[in-house]
Amino acid sequence: MTQKQAKEKIKTLTEELNYHNYLYYQENKPVISDYEFDQRLKRLEQLEADFPELKLPHSPTFRVGGDITKEFETVVHQYRMLSLGNTYSKEELFDFDGRVKRGLGTDKYEYICELKFDGVAISLRYENGVLQKGITRGDGTKGDDITTNIKTIKTIPLEIKANSPANSFEARGEVFMPKEAFNALNLQRERDGEALLANPRNTTSGTLKMQDSRIVAHRKLDCYIYTYLDDENSFETQESSLEFLAEAGFNVSPTYRKCKNINEVLNYIKEWEQKRHELIVETDGIVVKVNNISQQEELGFTAKNPRWAISYKFKAESAATLLKGITYQVGRTGAITPVAELNPVLLAGTTIKRASLHNANEIERLDVRIGDTVNVEKGGDIIPKITSVDLSTRKGNPAPVTYIRSCPECNAELIRKEGEVQHYCPNFQSCPPQVLGRIEHFISRNAMNIETLGPRTIKGLFDKELIQNMSDLYSLTFEQINDLQFEEFDETTDSTTKRSIKEKTATNIIRSIKASKQQPFERVLFGLGIRYVGKTVAEKLADHFKSMDAILKASEEEIINVHEIGERIAESIIIHLQQPENLKIISSLRAAGLNFEIEEKERRTERLSGLTFVVSGVFANYRREELKNIIKDNGGKVTGSISSKTNYLVAGENMGPAKKEKADSLGIRILDELSFKKLLEND
Ligand code: IVH
Repeated sequence: MTQKQAKEKIKTLTEELNYHNYLYYQENKPVISDYEFDQRLKRLEQLEADFPELKLPHSPTFRVGGDITKEFETVVHQYRMLSLGNTYSKEELFDFDGRVKRGLGTDKYEYICELKFDGVAISLRYENGVLQKGITRGDGTKGDDITTNIKTIKTIPLEIKANSPANSFEARGEVFMPKEAFNALNLQRERDGEALLANPRNTTSGTLKMQDSRIVAHRKLDCYIYTYLDDENSFETQESSLEFLAEAGFNVSPTYRKCKNINEVLNYIKEWEQKRHELIVETDGIVVKVNNISQQEELGFTAKNPRWAISYKFKAESAATLLKGITYQVGRTGAITPVAELNPVLLAGTTIKRASLHNANEIERLDVRIGDTVNVEKGGDIIPKITSVDLSTRKGNPAPVTYIRSCPECNAELIRKEGEVQHYCPNFQSCPPQVLGRIEHFISRNAMNIETLGPRTIKGLFDKELIQNMSDLYSLTFEQINDLQFEEFDETTDSTTKRSIKEKTATNIIRSIKASKQQPFERVLFGLGIRYVGKTVAEKLADHFKSMDAILKASEEEIINVHEIGERIAESIIIHLQQPENLKIISSLRAAGLNFEIEEKERRTERLSGLTFVVSGVFANYRREELKNIIKDNGGKVTGSISSKTNYLVAGENMGPAKKEKADSLGIRILDELSFKKLLEND
């Protein structure tokens, strides 16, 4: 295929796929099958890998992510990104309306009411209809360029559908994580033994700042657009700009409404105060905007906020209920969390029976006592919290809460390290929730991925004393678990049910435990559950040290020297590997045949044999030397300068223009990091 043909094909595929993307995500009316879509996307990916210089800025392949941003560049906003003044009462809204009326000197104005979406504000720059940059709000004057991550959000058009009135414009809106996606993510994290995320907004903000856009692409973020801006002030009203945005393919929430006066605004508030819980996104209030843009200009701004708009915050929903008692939960790490046991009460659409009391300091701060009437609030966070105690209804003189001294699960005396608020159970080795938590982590998806086992079966096997730690899984036999009967306690109903492992399940469990022995070293390392050694850290350690033996021999300093690994992690590794019990588990796992080193052989292929490469520039995922070694390990040849014998120039950032020019003049293909990876994997 010639350069010219490739250019044509890339252009058609890009446009076609963007259109189908729109039909699928915005209109919910796909006209081609997922299979057909994927086929065409693959075709485009291949062409882009072969001709990286022809990839278009609005290519749908950006949706899948893959680009790594080491550091987000700071960009100055073309129009400042201000925030809104807040109101909390009807009276304050009437005051706002009074200011608008006086400011305009007339009562001929209308409002547009919108919902205030609880996410992260974003500014999108378009030139000639194509998305150029996505920038965070930052301090309002300048923000971070997070374009690669923004491009993975399916409802943000990479190219708009309708002609915009101006060549360059900005669309602004709110990126958010739908409640359902957030709950699913947390469920998965719970299964994987990872800490739960507090709320969708913080999760959105954290996700947008991730370096790896591929993870962002998997996070199911969405975006509502509510502002259009250009130099020519092309629209007369907020309403008509919203209509244009929707027509151009932006995701505009249909919940906005034109209101003739402040009383109609109040009706809108009343209606949404309830209905908002049914929406896919969390909302924390409404935004009232003067509809007419010239009137907005006339009213102008204060130092921080527009005078033509204001937000009204919904009251945090709260309920009063009786504190029946306090129980204490022990986490996987031994951390103790006091939990308020409440008389069930309805709050924001769900029945609340429990609320976190966080730690001993919080109990003291609230001075809460058993039998008190407490106020429970559900803010943005998933766990409801006790905000205050109703002292007027306190009966008699109940005793202050005495915090437990020993572990509710294993009776060990609790410890509280200096400077830490949390109490811990130090019985790392045999405190049941800690032991179970570690085994659950070991079998979880990102570790050994033993899908046939779940927390319930693990608990059953533990109660029947068939397993005491993760290595015991590998000595389980079919005979031991077939038809095994155990009891299961259900917290929500406070009752016990009998369960048993059927023959087919038993066979599957034994088979999948055996299969897990094939998991690579980095997963085994992650599965060990060393504090602070998450998936990425485990991968880095495995990559650097290559084997468990090397890690066992490494000093704290040597561990710190691994790129991006700090003191806290290194110290935790050293402590973990000093404990005889942990070493015993490692040697049992080793005896069972698990991988304790990376299989170097696997990495060597002849895929690149006969090909000559030049490597230039800086790479996000590899050091340059490392990349050269990969080429050589896979049969390729690396030379220092470009000649007619060169097949590929692997180009990172900051490559000199002369190299590119030379490669172009000789018709040598230029590969970016991603295309190189693809070449290595697919060829
Ligand atoms: S308009 C001049 N409309 O609220 C400010 N903002 O405090 C124009 N927000 O930073 C903002 N939903 O993150 C506007 N329908 C909506 C909104 C909205 C949420 C957020 C946005 C903004 C903050 C203002």
